[in-house]
Amino acid sequence: MLDEIVQNSSLDDTFEVEKIRADFPLLMNAGDSLHYLDNAATSQKPNAVIDAISNCYSEHYGPVHRGLYPLAEEASQHYENARTTLAKFINAPDDQLIFTRSTTESINMVAQGWLRSRLSKGDQIWVTRMEHHANYLPWQALCNENDAKLKIIELRQDGSLDLDSCIGLYDSTTKLIAVTHTSNVLGTINPVKEICAKAAEQGIAVMVDAAQSVGHVPVDVIDIDCDFLAFSAHKMFGPTGIGALYGKAERLVEMEPLLLGGGMVDSINECNSVWMPYPAKFEAGSQNLAGALGFAAAINWLHENDMALMHKHVMGLTQYALDSLSKLNSIEIYGPRNAQQRAGIVSFNLTDVHPHDVGQIAGELGVAIRAGHHCCQPLMQYIGVAATARASFAPYNSYSDIDVLIEAINEAHSKFA
Ligand SMILES: Cc1ncc(COP(=O)(O)O)c(C=O)c1O
Repeated sequence: MLDEIVQNSSLDDTFEVEKIRADFPLLMNAGDSLHYLDNAATSQKPNAVIDAISNCYSEHYGPVHRGLYPLAEEASQHYENARTTLAKFINAPDDQLIFTRSTTESINMVAQGWLRSRLSKGDQIWVTRMEHHANYLPWQALCNENDAKLKIIELRQDGSLDLDSCIGLYDSTTKLIAVTHTSNVLGTINPVKEICAKAAEQGIAVMVDAAQSVGHVPVDVIDIDCDFLAFSAHKMFGPTGIGALYGKAERLVEMEPLLLGGGMVDSINECNSVWMPYPAKFEAGSQNLAGALGFAAAINWLHENDMALMHKHVMGLTQYALDSLSKLNSIEIYGPRNAQQRAGIVSFNLTDVHPHDVGQIAGELGVAIRAGHHCCQPLMQYIGVAATARASFAPYNSYSDIDVLIEAINEAHSKFA
């Protein structure tokens, strides 16, 4: 079937997947016993990232921005170099890239530190129907606290945003639009640049959740012209426990820090304090040096392995998965059908089989997929299901991983339907 699809489409199976795979020790150790298709949850780590973390501790570990001796200065320099690598990757000025723990923390920082003091009774915050809880709950809580309205950008049948039906989206009462760049369930890629341009005309801020896009497609914050953008290292081959927040300069000046403590204060007396300029004012406490170096190493790994080529491979896998799944009986596939309009994330349900059963049978065959609500319960309510099964792809996946997934689905169907 793959030959047929490759011949009839622009798919390319000449990508050297084994070369990429060889960089990932967990996958090499597992061999054929593991078909890891849960990349939207978290990605596996290449040797370059593991080595960067290990080298940090064995060669240049010390306190960041706290010591005057050579090891401490070296540690500080490495940390700032990592910031430069990240900032360049999304075309941000270095100092507008703040290290956080994760996308979740980045978004909560904006909610509590920036929007909370600006939101009044009757104001609106708009989110989309497809938001992850990380980009939904902080805004819902602020609305409840301030008697403001949480408004929802609904979806069209094909899983794209129905922006035309949002009455009042760009009204003066709208204080923020929070939108995911890529849906972690539908795989939809949203027109964030267009939303930012219209919002900017009315002075409305836009928060982009880029957890599923940075590291997978080129992301340029100047081109998108968003006010804030958040992402996590662990979804783009970097370590867990570190993420980033980009903010426009004027927003970062306006924003108050969420965490107060060491390293973020310029002067302090018994009653008052003056914060350091950003980014330091948002990075209280001892910095995650090893995480930052692992994060930068992931970006260097992406550069070294040609992100565009890897993306093309992932698109090929996605189209193959969509085509293979749609040949099955009793299946519903969610989101756009054309791989060119979506990311490498495919959610589906068998009509007569619970997704947890699909996930379990898949697991028994060594196929790691996700089954659940994917932290997107408002979307599940809209689709009318409690959960879906989800396969998500990375450059180290091969077409045969998808063939085994299809086998697993067939087995789940014959066992449970
Ligand atoms: C679209 C999206 N936003 C936010 C998050 C939260 O990311 P993290 O858990 O790294 O904070 C996720 C994680 O699955 C996600 O898929």
